[in-house]
Parts: sequence; structure tokens; C-alpha cells
Amino acid sequence: MPPEHTALPPASHLGTAEQASLQRREPMLWLNPAHAPRAFTPDKALDPEIAIARFSRCAALMSSVFPQLRNSRGRLQSPLVPVPALQRQLGGRHEGTWLIKRDDALPVAGSVKARGGFHEVLTLAERLALDGGLVTGASDRLELAGMPARRLFEKYTIAVGSTGNLGLSIGLIAKTLGFKAMVHMSEDAKEWKKDRLRAAGVEVIEHAGDYASAVKAGRLAAESDPFGYFVDDEESVHLFLGYAAAAHEIQSQLAQQGRGVDAEHPLFVYLPCGVGGAPGGVAYGLKRLFGEHVHCFFAEPAASPCMLVQLAARNEAPVSVYDYGLDNRTEADGLAVAQASPLVAPLMRKLLSGVFTVDDDTLFRDVHALMQAEGMLIEPSAAAGMRGPLWLTGSEPGLRYLASRNLPPRMRHATHIIWSTGGSLVPSLEHETFQKQGRQLSAPAAG
Ligand SMILES: Cc1ncc(COP(=O)(O)O)c(C=O)c1O
Repeated sequence: MPPEHTALPPASHLGTAEQASLQRREPMLWLNPAHAPRAFTPDKALDPEIAIARFSRCAALMSSVFPQLRNSRGRLQSPLVPVPALQRQLGGRHEGTWLIKRDDALPVAGSVKARGGFHEVLTLAERLALDGGLVTGASDRLELAGMPARRLFEKYTIAVGSTGNLGLSIGLIAKTLGFKAMVHMSEDAKEWKKDRLRAAGVEVIEHAGDYASAVKAGRLAAESDPFGYFVDDEESVHLFLGYAAAAHEIQSQLAQQGRGVDAEHPLFVYLPCGVGGAPGGVAYGLKRLFGEHVHCFFAEPAASPCMLVQLAARNEAPVSVYDYGLDNRTEADGLAVAQASPLVAPLMRKLLSGVFTVDDDTLFRDVHALMQAEGMLIEPSAAAGMRGPLWLTGSEPGLRYLASRNLPPRMRHATHIIWSTGGSLVPSLEHETFQKQGRQLSAPAAG
């Protein structure tokens, strides 16, 4: 539950009008005043190559335990596709090309959280197997699918707190490798996600509170179990590195499509943000590869703009959306987070270009628009980034951002990537409800 909110919001870099819009839940684009285009500094502990190498070592293992990964030879990958009909339908200018990164279609777990979740469980499995002498050095990890490894893993319980999709990702790989899995779910977690986890043999613990209280409960439960391992969505470097590996995939997909990223060909990326791990990891990986030529924006629900309020704060002390009188209530269950990750927010302070917010009605309209225009079915959280190109090229702050970086003459050659983050595991009945709602909201008012 939201705590009693303070009458005065924390000191921040929000202008008076911006703060009023934020508190009234009006969709807005906030530009990050601390953004420094060339600020990326490599850090050995946060090197995405760690995850890339792990995914390579584990590719044969992944392909042997997940038949859905055979075609990609054990790689967790999603398509990057042009969406010209959507661009026309939403009224995007003819300048530049819109693409969608289809993490909604990521195999096995069906969301962006798969990359981080799989990476963290593989990291644990490797560590246990190395300590137990089942594998050595950087050898191929197919051994981890064998009986000795399973017997070792079944002693351990992997726990996680989640609004849903991280739970699915951790639960599905943990059970497949033989671990016990326990997912602590917040009140906004959808029933079908719980059902799917239970069907996979995962223990689901339901909590009456929000995402942060589910995470806290999971952390406490794992601490008291000597064979417990907690995946900490708010603080985990392993999750972060798994997400960051996606940047490398984007680099090869853009190259295959003949799309350069340089001073004449800017890249804009719009990422739905909950606690910040997934979009933060991707943005970090992209800044590492493309530096000042990539511009990353997060998209958050108007009721839960936790990264916006954290980056707007004048210091690093934790800030929550409840401090602004917002209630963190949104149909975008994956993004219903009141306080940003204390690991990721400081990493984004200089790298992130800005944050825009979106109301729930727009999410449903856009879920429907994407279906109509491109035949893609996604969940509401996954639609949060869809208005990104419009904010940038059609709003006062967006135009100011472009002008201050001398980008207007280059927008003809720009690439806009809208990151779609979840949907392929959603049951068809749920999709029908989303579509109906979107259709009703999009219908012109009578009279
Ligand atoms: C569909 C979807 N999109 C985006 C996100 C945001 O990821 P993060 O919470 O790491 O910011 C989530 C998180 O669960 C999600 O489920």
C-alpha cells in the first residue's frame, strides 16, 4: 500500500509546470538535465561481455533443455522489425524509420525479463557446478543438463519478488534446470501469470502489497534458508548484465539491415521502465557500443514514473512516486514500481536522455493500434514506448532536445527503436480483453 505521502514533494530538477503535470498524471516528456552524451565510462564489473560469453558457453545447454531454442542454436533472441503501417497510423513523420524490437516474442519466457533472469540463473548454476567439480574453466556447459547437476541443483531454492514477468523468467529456467523455485508476487500480478507458474511447478506466494513489498518478503524468506538464493530485481548485477547483452544483438541486427549508427544516422531507443533493470541494462549496453550517437528514453506509466522522479532528484537519496502523491496504480503491471533500482538509477544519471510518461488509456489504444497496423499482440506494459518518436519529433521538449544537439538535419536518416517488452505468453482471452478495451477507447465519440 502507498504510505501516507508527504505534503511537500522532494527538491528536484522538475520545473513548476512539469511537477504540476507529473502530479496531475498528465503524460509528459522530461529531459534529463544531467544527460552527458559522451559520459559512458567502462567498468569491468559491469562489462556486458561477461553475459555474452556466458550465453555462448551455455548455448548448447539451453538448446538441449528448451526445444523452443533449437532453431536459434540455444540463443535467446528476438526480431527487430520495421513497422511502417504503425508509423503512418500513429501519425509519425516520414522522417526516419520506426522499428520494433520484439522482446514480446522472446522464446520461452515471452518478455524482456527473460534475458536477465536466464543470465542470473545460469550464473548460479555455473558457480554451483564449478564449486562441485562438475565443470571446469570456460568449457561448454552442456553438463549442467545431466543427472549429477540436477541432483546438486534440486537442493537449492531460487526465490524472486516480481510483478509477473521476472517471476516467469526465473521460475521457468530454474525449474527446467532442476532447482526449486519460489515467486513472491505483488497484488498487481495477473492471475494468468500465477497460474502459468504453478503449472510449471513453481511455488507462488501472493502478497497484499506492491512490488517493493513482494521483493522485500522474498529477500527475507531466502535469507533464512541456507539453500536459498534470492534474485534481487532491485539490485542485481547479474540481471543487469543479461539485459545489457541485448545491445550486442541490436548491433548485429542493424548491421544486417544496412542501418548505420553515427553522427549522420542517429539512433533513438524507447524503453518501458519498471524498476529500471531491463531498460537500464539495454541502455547501458547501447551507450557502450554507440556512445553519443544513441539517444535512450525510458517510458513510464503516469502513475508510476519512479525513474523520472529519482533522476530529477537533487541528490541520490531514494525518492518514491508516493512522495509526489501518485498512487502507483496502473494496468501496466510490469511497470507498477514506486521506487527505482538503487543500482540502476545512478548508472542512468548521465546516460539517459529523458523519460516520458503514458496513461493507461493510451497503452490500450496503442496495443490495439499495433494489432491493427502490424498484426502484433502485446501486453499493455510493452506498449509504453510506442509514443516515443512522437514525443521527440512533435513536442516542445522533444524539439528542444533535437535542436540543442543539432539533430534536425539528420532526422531523415534516424532510426527509432520502440522496445516491445512482453506479450507472447499472454492467454488469448486476455489479449481479447486488451483489444476490446483499446478498440472502445479508440472509437470516435458519437454525436
Ligand atoms: C512487460 C515488461 N516490460 C518492461 C518491464 C520493465 O523492466 P524493469 O522492471 O526491469 O524496468 C517489465 C518488468 O517486469 C515488464 O514485465
